[in-house]
Amino acid sequence: MADGKREPSDGEVSREAILAALSQIEDPDLHRDIVSLGFIKDEDINVCAGNVSVRIVLTTPACPVREKMKQQAEELLLALPGIDHAEVNMDAEVRQTTMRGQRPVEGVRNIIAVASNKGGVGKSTLAVNLALALTKFGARVGLMDADLTGPNLPTMMGVEGGSQADTGLSTVERYGVKLASIGFVLKKGVAVVWRGPMIGTGVRQLLHDIPWGAEGELDYLVVDLPPGTSDASMSMAQEAPIAGTVIVTTPNSVSLEDAMKAVMMFEKLQVPVFGVIENMSYFECPHCGERTEIFGHGGAQVTAEELGLDFLGEIPLDVKVRESGDSGVPIMVSDPESPVSKAILEIAQKIAAKTSVQHFFAQTAAASG
Ligand SMILES: Nc1ncnc2c1ncn2[C@@H]1O[C@H](COP(=O)(O)OP(=O)(O)OP(=O)(O)O)[C@@H](O)[C@H]1O
Ligand SMILES: [Mg+2]
Repeated sequence: MADGKREPSDGEVSREAILAALSQIEDPDLHRDIVSLGFIKDEDINVCAGNVSVRIVLTTPACPVREKMKQQAEELLLALPGIDHAEVNMDAEVRQTTMRGQRPVEGVRNIIAVASNKGGVGKSTLAVNLALALTKFGARVGLMDADLTGPNLPTMMGVEGGSQADTGLSTVERYGVKLASIGFVLKKGVAVVWRGPMIGTGVRQLLHDIPWGAEGELDYLVVDLPPGTSDASMSMAQEAPIAGTVIVTTPNSVSLEDAMKAVMMFEKLQVPVFGVIENMSYFECPHCGERTEIFGHGGAQVTAEELGLDFLGEIPLDVKVRESGDSGVPIMVSDPESPVSKAILEIAQKIAAKTSVQHFFAQTAAASG
């Protein structure tokens, strides 16, 4: 046959019957069946006598229902008459989110920004560990330090500040993540005073002059923003199609008020907000297991609900987080089984799912003109 496809012989199940069976599976985030979403291509169905194999290509490798979907697909195929053996292979290809009127960042499929209005709530810590969490699912990930006046990512990722002072800024690969920070080119102890327009230029250069996709396109570029309604956040919103931003807060009311301001800023800038993360939610005593809610607890969830946003999860306080940030070995690397790492892995899956949904909306909007 010209296209190499094998047509079913007598008594073999047809491709149409296979697709009809699999169309009973709904993507839990997109609320559409996986066949009409294009997750199964014709060439990914192979039938030979009573054996069938199918490849399902999801929109993110960090899909929380991946295994469940595989099982459901195998059961549906085995229920078809004439099928004795069914094999379903799960794969993923992250699609690029583009937004009308915005210049895409070359080599980057989706940008996820980590923000808050308040300083010191854990944005950089989360940006680092979220990026690492996404790589654990098999995604290709970059990490951009948009905090030009206080770049913390080199220290947190164990890259010596100023190491590129004489060579010019480029990415450094660390723990499987491609990282770029202005801290790479600033000599240690040298303070730079940035004026507003310079920050805009800096952000633009980090986005568009760094060859993010040089070794293959990145599925996700996680961006660590400085606190507040800063020039950096505004420039990011103008310069790049942000698939979504996550707002980090601690559970106390002052921080929550600030989180609300951040949400409003992004909504004004027409940047989608994926939801709210509560960091330093509680402290669990490593000796007796007693839980202490140092800043109160649950406030972020209430605030998220009031704002009509999703609550993405809570992360406990753990001294290892601070130590790992200072030592340059993030907790996702030094202690991937810790409650903090597990919480961040779950949040990363939610963010990946939301990115897929955002891609879908953006494409639908583009198609309807
Ligand atoms: N869950 C946590 N448990 C313990 N320490 C934490 C936790 N999250 C963050 N920290 C610590 O709190 C401090 C501030 O965190 P981080 O630098 O990530 O905040 P930030 O919001 O990026 O701050 P800035 O606004 O200055 O950029 C760091 O020392 C970090 O290690
Ligand atoms: Mg920071």
